[in-house]
Amino acid sequence: MEKVAQKLGLGKAMFNIVPEEKFGHYSANLMTIRTSSVEARKTPPNEFAEKFKDELLKLKAVKEITDKIETAGAGYLNFWLKPESIQKDFVEIFKNKDKWGKFKIKERKTIVIDYSHPNIAKPMSVAHLRSTIIGQALCNIFKFRGWRTIGDNHLGDWGKQFGILIAAFKQSDLKNKKDLKIEDLMNLYVDYTARMKNNSELEDKAREETKKLQRGDKENIKIWKRFYKISLDEFKKVYKRLDIKFDYYLGESFYKPMLEGIVTDALKNGAARISDSAAVIPMDNNQPPFIIRKSDEAYLYSTTDLAAIKYRMKKFKPDMVLYVVDNGQSLHFEQLFKSAERLGLAKKEKLFHAKFGLVLSEGLKKLSTRAGRHISLQEVMDEAVSRARNVAEKKQPDLESKEKQKIAETIGIGALKYNDLSQNRMSDIAFKWEKMLNLEGNSAPYLQYAYARLKSILRKAKPVARFDQKFLNSEIETRIILLLSEFPDVLDLVTKNYLPHYLAEYLYKLAQEANLFYQKEKVLAASKGEREARLALAQAIAATLKTGLGLLGIKTLERI
Ligand code: ARG
Repeated sequence: MEKVAQKLGLGKAMFNIVPEEKFGHYSANLMTIRTSSVEARKTPPNEFAEKFKDELLKLKAVKEITDKIETAGAGYLNFWLKPESIQKDFVEIFKNKDKWGKFKIKERKTIVIDYSHPNIAKPMSVAHLRSTIIGQALCNIFKFRGWRTIGDNHLGDWGKQFGILIAAFKQSDLKNKKDLKIEDLMNLYVDYTARMKNNSELEDKAREETKKLQRGDKENIKIWKRFYKISLDEFKKVYKRLDIKFDYYLGESFYKPMLEGIVTDALKNGAARISDSAAVIPMDNNQPPFIIRKSDEAYLYSTTDLAAIKYRMKKFKPDMVLYVVDNGQSLHFEQLFKSAERLGLAKKEKLFHAKFGLVLSEGLKKLSTRAGRHISLQEVMDEAVSRARNVAEKKQPDLESKEKQKIAETIGIGALKYNDLSQNRMSDIAFKWEKMLNLEGNSAPYLQYAYARLKSILRKAKPVARFDQKFLNSEIETRIILLLSEFPDVLDLVTKNYLPHYLAEYLYKLAQEANLFYQKEKVLAASKGEREARLALAQAIAATLKTGLGLLGIKTLERI
């Protein structure tokens, strides 16, 4: 679509596919073009559109691809393309198969994506689940568009909570427990912190263990490593089930050796100063200062993040570093980015907080630790899969149980991901199981069924090698081709705004059009010529659905 807009000299106009052919194939809102010149602004919108149209019609490229241009509304133009031009585009799309939309560039840009990042010794939260799903989708899409992507899991694996944990652990009888679970660790922590509140002895003990750990005390390091392993094994189970892959696991502990240098440099360069014996970077706009070393000499989350910026800039030379973190940390990232710039570590423009909202339960209440009750992610995933199993049971009662389970897993996990990715990441999202698994609505199973249905048609015919695109001339076929042409632009929209829901919206539209297509047109029973062309179209739709869902991390099924 962008290409067409370019050819038509409409680079700056808002350019859209029109839902009904009687109003054109594309419509363009000329507002931005009109208001960008002083001269044009004086012309009323209607008149401007009229003049603009006349100018366009003089262009050779425009004449070549359009049949008709009409003014519409205040400052709008409607375009009808020549069928041959649309059909020619389809040949290109068809040839690309599952590579349609994939970008090959020589000079690769690099993006570091910081996502998932759960904390050691605590089960992953739903916020981490959102970060994981959104971060992975962004990674996939950037990579597909030709970027070098670095997925980095910035684990919360260091800090004073480990002193508390180690102290609690040493007092407990868990030391000899064989299969220590992450929940055990969390309970230890919760219990000890509660007791610590009115017991300064316990507090001192915890502080002492932290110090020992920081000094590299053998026993404490060994315990810490054990906690690390238990936690990571647990996280990796979640990653495996969700199909998540990282290039690096550079947790907070990795940056320990760099922290002192960060603070010394910040003080030297004048960005930081000492205030009440803490090292702080002052902020403007009445924001609290960014503390990078506490009065007791301890470093913080903030110091680690500055070190991580320094390290990433040097090691990966990225064009962009993306932090997929909930919007509760907005202030932290605002201050972090300002500080990084003042320290000369990175330009603010290269750092972006891709924030997201909360996960709410069915009744839109905050879905979280109700009176200490933790919602485990395994539980959420199991629930999604068991509900999806009911769907599979209804649709395919005769399948073998193992087969049904496989379908349920694909649909359930897909539903979970799609529920997240189909909504603007900034909004709070809800778990509405009915909606998430609704076969008629905007849901993963709806898209997965649309794909499977196309595949079941395609299985009944030989793969198309040759076809005549001129047969693709009905309104719905034309609209589908226009939609397929738009796929690369939609991906660019995602990479420009870090908003994967644009892709989800697009795929939903494509699936709806696909369903309409074989309601309206015969495919297998069509006459020779039409049959091959329509099969080719079905093949291209299926390929793009699969590619698009795959980028969102959602698997397809050949049959459901
Ligand atoms: N572990 C942190 C948390 O759970 C998130 C880390 C985000 N990444 C970062 N570079 N600060 O809150």
